Amino acid sequence: MGINERLLKRDREALSDVMKLRFYPLIAVSGKGSVIKDLEGKEYLDLNAGWAVANTGYCHPKIAGVVREQMEKLSFNSLISVMNESSINLSEKLIELTPGKFQKKVWFGHSGSDANECIAKIVPLASGKPRIITFVGSYHGQTMGSYAMSGHPAQSKFIGSGNITKIPYPYCYRCAFKKEHPGCDLFCLKYLEEHILKSVCPADQTAAIVIEAIQSDGGDVVPPQGYLQGLQDICRKNNIFLILDEVKVGFGRTGRFFGFENWGIVPDVVIMGKPIASGLPLSAVVGRKEIMDCGVALHMFTTAGNPVACTAGLKTIEILKNEKLIENAKNIGDYMLKAFKSMHRKYAVIGDVRGKGLIIGIELVKNRETREPADQFAALVAYRAYELGVLFYYAGIHSNVLELTPPLTLTYDEADKAIKVIRQAIEDVMDHKVDPAKIEAFAGWACN
Ligand SMILES: Cc1ncc(COP(=O)(O)O)c(C=O)c1O
Repeated sequence: MGINERLLKRDREALSDVMKLRFYPLIAVSGKGSVIKDLEGKEYLDLNAGWAVANTGYCHPKIAGVVREQMEKLSFNSLISVMNESSINLSEKLIELTPGKFQKKVWFGHSGSDANECIAKIVPLASGKPRIITFVGSYHGQTMGSYAMSGHPAQSKFIGSGNITKIPYPYCYRCAFKKEHPGCDLFCLKYLEEHILKSVCPADQTAAIVIEAIQSDGGDVVPPQGYLQGLQDICRKNNIFLILDEVKVGFGRTGRFFGFENWGIVPDVVIMGKPIASGLPLSAVVGRKEIMDCGVALHMFTTAGNPVACTAGLKTIEILKNEKLIENAKNIGDYMLKAFKSMHRKYAVIGDVRGKGLIIGIELVKNRETREPADQFAALVAYRAYELGVLFYYAGIHSNVLELTPPLTLTYDEADKAIKVIRQAIEDVMDHKVDPAKIEAFAGWACN
């Protein structure tokens, strides 16, 4: 048995399945920019960035440098009871970056899940209203409150909380109301206002609406023009907080610092995580003071907002700006989207292509008329691309959307390689060159 097989066996035997969502047998050893290497030194162009975390690329020397420095100066103290300057600096920076001319405060955690959990707990308390509205297909996390707010099949195994009402996300390719944009005149918003807020989840009992600016794990769904602005209007009119979960699309990915900035809205609260500290465990919630100060010692974790992670967070923001990675995300993203749109014209299996900046979804279907999801095809394409040295996963409520969320350091040459390999992988699967037995051990989202 080679070293690779031995490690795979040890992983199978020692690591719990409940923390796994595997698509191929990759063991990462090192990384640089958008490329990671496996045990045998084979290079992979990573179009996933470790689930949209490595926005500044892998092993950025400046991140490594400040982490080492901070580790040697003050490796840790708990922000719960002892203050440190790095954490204060980052909180002030996040307040400055988050739109809204009102007083804001910051909470720190470790993951997108605990940040969404913060919302599930404190927003009803702060507003004195018990209910929250979220969206079908949304992914907010794996702790009980964030689970309850989620509408993704991955979180459907538990009975959620009774105070959450889930409404359809504006997923125009699969409109829940069988309408077409723009002719629909955003009927989904009328449905929210005239049905949900009147009879199912009364406006005067509703604390917040929580939404992803692009519904990522739900299938990289980009809302139609006017939707988020219309949602903001409904929130303002009904005295409901508008909360944006930017865990996956924040920090430059869409070509703007926050994804919602593409639509000019100003949320009351913004939830951040994943890329915020270039891979160190850190999350944040930035919101109106009256929400964030609704009590003391309500949602605190011993190691949250520690000086090392916060130092990496500050450097991450500096790198995004100084290295013009946000502009790069927009330019390379536009370039790739154009290439995939032209692929869409050529391959019938591609039902839809959508995205903004460097979050791109390629939705695969068995039939363009019926739009029946091609989930196994998607799994095979992801596997074949891995064999060809390009990494991405598939997402979506039907597990049929190839999801591309590369590091924002991606170059045009790398984008060309990505496009070429994806085309090749699609053709290889069409030509039955990929044995479905290969993916049997890697159920991905289908494990749900
Ligand atoms: C939008 C969004 N919110 C929250 C989370 C949960 O984040 P984490 O896995 O860091 O707990 C995710 C994870 O994919 C996400 O995409």
